[in-house]
Amino acid sequence: MDNAATSFPKPPGVKEAMIHFMDDVGANPGRSRHDQSMEAARIVEGTREALAVLFNIPNPNRIVFTLNSTEALNTVIYGVLNEGDHVVMTQMEHNSVIRPLRHLEASGIITVSVAPCDRMGFCDPREIGRLVHPNTALVALNHASNVCGAIQDVVAIREAIGDVPLLLDVAQTAGAVPVDVQAMGVDFLAFTGHKALFGPQGTGGLYVRDGLSIRPLKRGGTGSVSESEQQPEFFPDLLESGTQNNVGIAGLGAGVRFVLDTGVETIRRHEMELLQTFVNGLKKLAGLTLYGPLKPEAQAPIVSVTFDKALPDGLQMSFGGCGGRSVPATFESVHPQEAGTILTERYEISVRVGLHCAPLAHKALGTFPDGTVRFSPGYFNTMQEVEIAIEAIRTIAEKINITGD
Ligand SMILES: Cc1ncc(COP(=O)(O)O)c(C=O)c1O
Repeated sequence: MDNAATSFPKPPGVKEAMIHFMDDVGANPGRSRHDQSMEAARIVEGTREALAVLFNIPNPNRIVFTLNSTEALNTVIYGVLNEGDHVVMTQMEHNSVIRPLRHLEASGIITVSVAPCDRMGFCDPREIGRLVHPNTALVALNHASNVCGAIQDVVAIREAIGDVPLLLDVAQTAGAVPVDVQAMGVDFLAFTGHKALFGPQGTGGLYVRDGLSIRPLKRGGTGSVSESEQQPEFFPDLLESGTQNNVGIAGLGAGVRFVLDTGVETIRRHEMELLQTFVNGLKKLAGLTLYGPLKPEAQAPIVSVTFDKALPDGLQMSFGGCGGRSVPATFESVHPQEAGTILTERYEISVRVGLHCAPLAHKALGTFPDGTVRFSPGYFNTMQEVEIAIEAIRTIAEKINITGD
């Protein structure tokens, strides 16, 4: 249940595509004219085209491959912003957005505003709109929180920010929730390959809307216009220098084709069912606080919990949902680290504990600095596994209540 970190297992076909590339292809795409190089190019372009279909991107060449979403996000932040620019980000951002922005801010190059999020993890589009100034050059938005799953209303935020370029981080939603760059008005889309797109680690990419310019993070060989000593200005070569992770891109292509063949809607429906059962089961438990919208249709399949000590009978309080948490009346009973260890060692349930690289999100949810225990079921989790997880959580929570430690 740690698919928000990286998906496991991968669907059939991913490993096979990588083995095919290693065993039968083994060439650089587009660098030579021999059969293997042509086959490598066909595979890489096939992945690009599959991604374009998935995200409704009109021109596949505006997608470039990166190592992960961190590299895609850095490419935009360092490639678009100039001295004197202002950026709006939200409290739900991941450190892969926060840190490069804070670095540019600390260097005196840009200023940054942080849009607050409520205790469910949602940002008010009007609030984001109010933070936009004449020198705002970018709004950086996490589509779904990797801490509590909250999905932001991208269309409303797009409307609220007018023409300001929108960078959408779909690390948690690509492959799991429908993403349509045209309908959402996205200018830059940063995705990672190894989560719900089911590719291997070390894959990801960036979409840049036609007509937008960007400076590359790296410059070098592209296999094109080699007579020129300057970086090509056309896509994807502008942002793709050096030999890529083509073995990984082959695997990513198989992962994306699995998503397309299965259908994002089918994947979403299964994950929402798992989420609904999980939330319903956990809501009944005393001694537990759940964070996030707790409505499957409003969140990615991610639920964070903390184990709190239940109150003696008689006091009015209800558990379930951060809105229902009675802060003065509870205190941490089992530290997230300890709960994570119990879940792994006694129940063989893999979760992630702590701050999940998103410190501002925990400040919004009231779980800073200890963080939470995060459960993130994926497409290959079963209802039975969800029931087992609920039972394990109940046992930990009840033990606290019974023993009072
Ligand atoms: C919302 C969000 N953004 C960015 C990232 C960074 O992804 P990667 O490690 O693949 O670069 C993650 C990873 O957990 C994430 O959840």
